[in-house]
Amino acid sequence: MADSFDVIVIGGGPGGYNAAIRLGQLGLSTACIDKRGSFGGTCLNVGCIPSKALLHASERFHEAETDFAKLGIKAKVELDLPAMMAQKTKVVGELTKGVEFLFKKNKVEGIVGEARITAPGKVSVKLADGTTRELTCKNIIIATGSDVAPLPGVTIDEKQIVSSTGAIALSSVPKKLLVVGAGVIGLELGSVWKRLGAEVTVVEFLDRITPGIDGEIAKAFQRILTKQGFTFQLSTKVTGVEKTKTGLKVTVEPAAGGDKTTIECDVMLVSIGRIPYTANLGLAEIGVALDKRGRVVTDNHYKTNVPGIYAVGDCREGVMLAHKAEDEATACAEIIAGKAGHVNYDAIPSVVYTFPEVATVGKTEEELKAAGIQYKVGKFPFTANARAKTIMATDGMVKIMADAKTDRVLGCAIVGPEAGNLIAEVVLAMEFGASSEDIARTCHSHPTLTEAVRQAAMGVEGWTMQM
Ligand code: FAD
Ligand code: NAI
Repeated sequence: MADSFDVIVIGGGPGGYNAAIRLGQLGLSTACIDKRGSFGGTCLNVGCIPSKALLHASERFHEAETDFAKLGIKAKVELDLPAMMAQKTKVVGELTKGVEFLFKKNKVEGIVGEARITAPGKVSVKLADGTTRELTCKNIIIATGSDVAPLPGVTIDEKQIVSSTGAIALSSVPKKLLVVGAGVIGLELGSVWKRLGAEVTVVEFLDRITPGIDGEIAKAFQRILTKQGFTFQLSTKVTGVEKTKTGLKVTVEPAAGGDKTTIECDVMLVSIGRIPYTANLGLAEIGVALDKRGRVVTDNHYKTNVPGIYAVGDCREGVMLAHKAEDEATACAEIIAGKAGHVNYDAIPSVVYTFPEVATVGKTEEELKAAGIQYKVGKFPFTANARAKTIMATDGMVKIMADAKTDRVLGCAIVGPEAGNLIAEVVLAMEFGASSEDIARTCHSHPTLTEAVRQAAMGVEGWTMQM
């Protein structure tokens, strides 16, 4: 086993494992180190994958309970939570093993252990058996990801007071679930437990849900979730939590200050964001600069201020998304290999995998207004889409924004069925600098949900035909 590599990647998540695979493809000797015990990082182990497995299963359960009868299907539905969790665990196991396979295929050495950078080109790895392995390399990529942002004064026990990690592994359905933070995690995992029978209350500090998503779409999304039975307390903050004999007593007060009230629940999910994770890496000692939020500072070639040390993914600036980490990883690996790696940050989609889904790319209407950009908007509701009617999923709409002069697509936001898949067309259009007319004049198969995207694009120039 060689102890010297062209590149050592620290962290085996989407940032780390994709960097290692691409480096391997490009013929550079590479090691990827992760302390977790299985590769795939937050995403495969406790993030994207287990949450999507539970979202899928709970959606089918809910559909069987509520929609089957309308479709003429008689069924007796019963929840088997351990089996649902086992399916999730199986998928996670298969995908994390898949990363090991890809490492072997691309001659990447996967090392399980905690890495510490002792000097540029030098990494010390504490292995599970307590021994240390000293490695050397030409370049290091930091891909150590992120961790749960703590709520001051609240201790997460992952049983009653949980982060996303505990919320994807509850052993029973809580009667009452309190979600702190109306962001992506809170609404996705809130949806899982809501569908399985929990009463869900969401406490959000701001006066809106899903900050960062186009305001009109977020409002429509909130209305849909409220119709599903979610309770929202906006402009509200949690100030304390007390364990009682029967559950939890959570103290809340208006965000702007005011009278305290209490909410009783069985489980509280803390989902108020994530913070970059760079603890015990030795960054301060070797002088790698961090910004005020603890993120590793890099230039647009992912280089830190210390020569030979790069960073990608959640631990550096930008949205904390697996595909953003993956794209940065690919670009960084290509740059290290002497190629021209590049990420187009204007065309990174973002999806909330609730039902219906919410998907966005590019600018929001608020951002266009703030930037003083003249734009036109086209919208199309799923109530007017034939396929949405046949699948009984007519809540939501597609909204496309294009430059008023050039017609170039600047942004899109969708709340509706399959929004996460529908947005891909607009991402590709934006990647190619397409106009709304390009989308509007592209043939879309009938009857599909994609026609709603086309009709919204037609709407930019005011010729939506099916409304
Ligand atoms: P990570 O995936 O966090 O990987 C970093 C790895 O580094 C970890 O495994 C850690 O153990 C390891 N590490 C840290 N320090 C060391 C060290 N010193 N030595 C060795 N190893 C170390 N994003 C999406 O795009 N779509 C989704 O649907 C989605 N769902 C999510 C659901 C949940 C519940 C959560 C929490 C996140 C979700 N995300 C999703 C976000 C996504 O998981 C992250 O953006 C992504 O994992 C970031 O990849 P990364 O490689 O930068 O970091
Ligand atoms: P988030 O940033 O999406 O949402 C956090 C919410 O909590 C915000 O609405 C914020 O205003 C609110 N908040 C902050 N402090 C609060 C307080 N003290 N009290 C009440 N509300 C408070 O963060 P979330 O949901 O924890 O997710 C973390 C990251 O993981 C996100 O950056 C997201 O990109 C990623 N993720 C992505 C998923 C996807 O792509 N589908 C799924 C899950 C997570």
